[in-house]
Amino acid sequence: MGTSKGIRYDWANLRADVVGSGQGLTPDDLNSHRDAARRAAEAIGARLDSGEFGFASLPGDRKTLAAVERYARVQRRFKSILLLGIGGSALGPFALDALANGPRPFRRNKVLAELWVLDNVDPLVLGRALEQLDPRQTLALVVTKSGETGETMAQFLIVYDWLCKKLGAKKAAKQVAAVTDPKKGDLLDIARSEGFALFYVPPNVGGRFSVLTPVGLLPAALVGVNVKKLLAGAGSVVAACRKPDLDSNPALQFALHQYLLDTRYGKHIQAIFCYSNALWALAFWYRQLWVESLGKRYDRRKREVNVGQTCVEALGVTDQHSQSQLYMEGPRDKVIVFWEVERDPYTIRIPKVFPKHTATGYLGGQTLNELFRAEKLATELAFTEVGRPNCNLIFPQADEYSVGQFMMMMEFATAYAGEFYDINAFDQPGVQLGKDLTYALLGRAGFDAERRRIAAYRQQKARAQKG
Ligand code: PA5
Repeated sequence: MGTSKGIRYDWANLRADVVGSGQGLTPDDLNSHRDAARRAAEAIGARLDSGEFGFASLPGDRKTLAAVERYARVQRRFKSILLLGIGGSALGPFALDALANGPRPFRRNKVLAELWVLDNVDPLVLGRALEQLDPRQTLALVVTKSGETGETMAQFLIVYDWLCKKLGAKKAAKQVAAVTDPKKGDLLDIARSEGFALFYVPPNVGGRFSVLTPVGLLPAALVGVNVKKLLAGAGSVVAACRKPDLDSNPALQFALHQYLLDTRYGKHIQAIFCYSNALWALAFWYRQLWVESLGKRYDRRKREVNVGQTCVEALGVTDQHSQSQLYMEGPRDKVIVFWEVERDPYTIRIPKVFPKHTATGYLGGQTLNELFRAEKLATELAFTEVGRPNCNLIFPQADEYSVGQFMMMMEFATAYAGEFYDINAFDQPGVQLGKDLTYALLGRAGFDAERRRIAAYRQQKARAQKG
């Protein structure tokens, strides 16, 4: 069912005897994969032990935690934290800020500092940000593991130039921190020569697995997230997530269930139904982790397989009035993963006014919390009755500890799912191709082959448009 303390995984409604034959998992599905599950856990465990993969040991890195907390304490005076980064270098901090400080515009009363995540290079984003930010109150974090991503470097050039012009070069350099690989990349060079504060992403931790490195910890600490609690939560599930026995490892179970539902029962879409505004941004972090890791053209034997579930997000209850209809009656290609929080930060009673009207009478005296839970249960029941497989990830509360647990559990689950699909869950050739073609288009040296490809594509498209 889940870890003994904290986040729980309830998968009763994924079973064929609940949602119907051909729609859910049978005992035979699971029993016939017990050995594969054990092998997956052992294979990932061996790569963690050898140091090839570093994500599971991050909660134990006390030195980095101390350095991040020290820096955050010294920089307390900054009111705006400008995060320049994209993908795995942005989605984690965005989720952690929304968790601790509330999603916009429902922010806490006193936020330590506002996080501005400039992940997109839509000129509107940077244009508006620079219009509104006070350079004296702004700390810029340049976050790129590779140290070269075009979007991030462009933002960095613009923002650093802005700071230099407004404050002078000496002051500006003190208001920039870089997070990057410790050994390579142009950002490392630039940061050293300009004297920026520097934090490192361990080479054995990939972009979308890096939220518990300074990529996530540094911005999080600066905006008041309890990073100690986050790491404690993450660390608390590692032992359970490493168990080779399917029944005692929730990450292994989750991965196997999704894999089987996708490959045996055509549930190619994993619909996250998140009943929490505080966790909503986390759904985007999770989506990247799952789809960028598992969406692969080739398996490890170089055969073309084109695998991977698509993740979509729905916000409960809002999207009951938008997406539920499709999930209930549309194509049977989805598994729904409810995210539910047990404890609310507020209890709000609905006043007993207009008791004689049927639309209001039954509501008066109940709480908004009861209504929220009833809506979720009603949706779950409705899906189950029409044979739509669904499961629950239950957070005791929307806090750093539970989210740390969730992040670690899902990183393990993603790694295990990669084993089941027999693909490399830790690379992203499709993302890299997009980056390389952009470099070629903008004239970066060393991308001549890509430039030739683009020229050929343009000619071919022009011919096609002529008819
Ligand atoms: O998961 C990944 O590796 C990617 O999504 C990267 O995080 C993203 O492309 C940004 O890369 P970088 O941190 O090197 O700028």
